[in-house]
Amino acid sequence: MSVRRLAEQQPPSFAFTPENKAWADKLIAKYPKGRQASAVIPLLWRAQEQHDYWLPKAAIEAVADMLGMNRLRVLEVATFYTMFNLAPVGRHFIQLCGTPPCHVRGAPQLRKILERRIGPQQHVSADGAFSWLEVECLGACCNAPMAQINNDYYEDLTEENFLLLLDDLAAGRTVKKGSQTGRISSEPTPGKGTTLADPTLYDGSRVGAWKKRFEEEQARQAAAAAEAAAAKEAASAAQQAPTDAAKPARPAAVTEEATLASAPAAAKAAAAAAPAASGAAASTPTHEAKERSVDPGVTALAAGAADPAAAAREAQAAQEEAEIKAKLATLSKDATPQQKADAVGARPAGLTAARGGVADDLKRIKGVGKVNEGKLNELGVFHFDQIAAWTRPEIRWVGTYLAFPGRIDREDWTGQAKLLAQGLETEFSRRVDRGEVSTSTGGPSRPDKTK
Ligand code: FES
Repeated sequence: MSVRRLAEQQPPSFAFTPENKAWADKLIAKYPKGRQASAVIPLLWRAQEQHDYWLPKAAIEAVADMLGMNRLRVLEVATFYTMFNLAPVGRHFIQLCGTPPCHVRGAPQLRKILERRIGPQQHVSADGAFSWLEVECLGACCNAPMAQINNDYYEDLTEENFLLLLDDLAAGRTVKKGSQTGRISSEPTPGKGTTLADPTLYDGSRVGAWKKRFEEEQARQAAAAAEAAAAKEAASAAQQAPTDAAKPARPAAVTEEATLASAPAAAKAAAAAAPAASGAAASTPTHEAKERSVDPGVTALAAGAADPAAAAREAQAAQEEAEIKAKLATLSKDATPQQKADAVGARPAGLTAARGGVADDLKRIKGVGKVNEGKLNELGVFHFDQIAAWTRPEIRWVGTYLAFPGRIDREDWTGQAKLLAQGLETEFSRRVDRGEVSTSTGGPSRPDKTK
């Protein structure tokens, strides 16, 4: 809403014509005594019509005097409503609607035309033919964008038909009022939308149709998402096996003894491991091979850094991981750890309690921290020889149950357990015994960076 002030140049006086005066007296007489002020708007409107479509100060005062009102109150009414023009307007006074429905349908482009052709708002063109004003909704939104010119509406305006309209008005030609595109009232544009002749308006088939469409779209999106997720999972599982199997033994899986080996030796070991990995995927675990490679009198694993068995374990772990992943993908998302483990392996038989009431310190196995030891105990696993005897299905079951399939092979739990069950040591068990491994001494169960 812009500030509305009286025009600077004002006529000295105003008086209704005898005809308008008679009309005004008749109107005022319709109101009960003391309520004549109710006639203020019709009187101001008639004064504006009489005075070239704008209200001078003298007209406002004349109306106030006729109605016995304070002049300031009538001025408040005249300045409040934009339908009252407080300054001269053109012979064709254009009120362009700028409210959102008209705005989004093209009112800004029409506004630019008016600015270009006539000038700024409330400016009368040099020939006195045009002036314009942007106003709020004029109630013809369904035929937006629109403009009121003097007392008539012009709707469905486009840049083209608006320019033609202005040309015709300027040339004094007859113009078409209402829709400029041929629509009758606010009926749908021919060929677009629905007409009242559409039988679906009356046969009930539209009831709940939007909801049905919404639900169908939701179901379609959910199915597409599930299909995409399944395809991604399958592709990932298919890629994982060959890729991982082809990899040379990862440094992390070479086990701690790699850290004891010299760098050149480790590099040599990795080179040696690569060819072994390609053929080892389907072979059986190589704990025995590892055992043969160690000196039981010193440490079982100290010489294992360059052992191709590490690569074999890695390859086997990768292959099984891929198989397990594929199987788990078929389970429901809220499957329990036990359900997942049962789907891929067989639970090892457990004891109800440690033999003789004394459990082995399972934390002496690299990869078994305090938390995992507790979980193993809950499964009835208390001794090294139990772990050493795990079969492939049992390894898969435990690995999946503990949520790290493949790790048991990579860290060679069963190989370590075999040595420890015989009363031998590993490098790792010696570190545990010396209290050098925090996760094995009651500290927080987290990856040991020293491993
Ligand atoms: S928004 Fe323009 S007429 Fe209603």
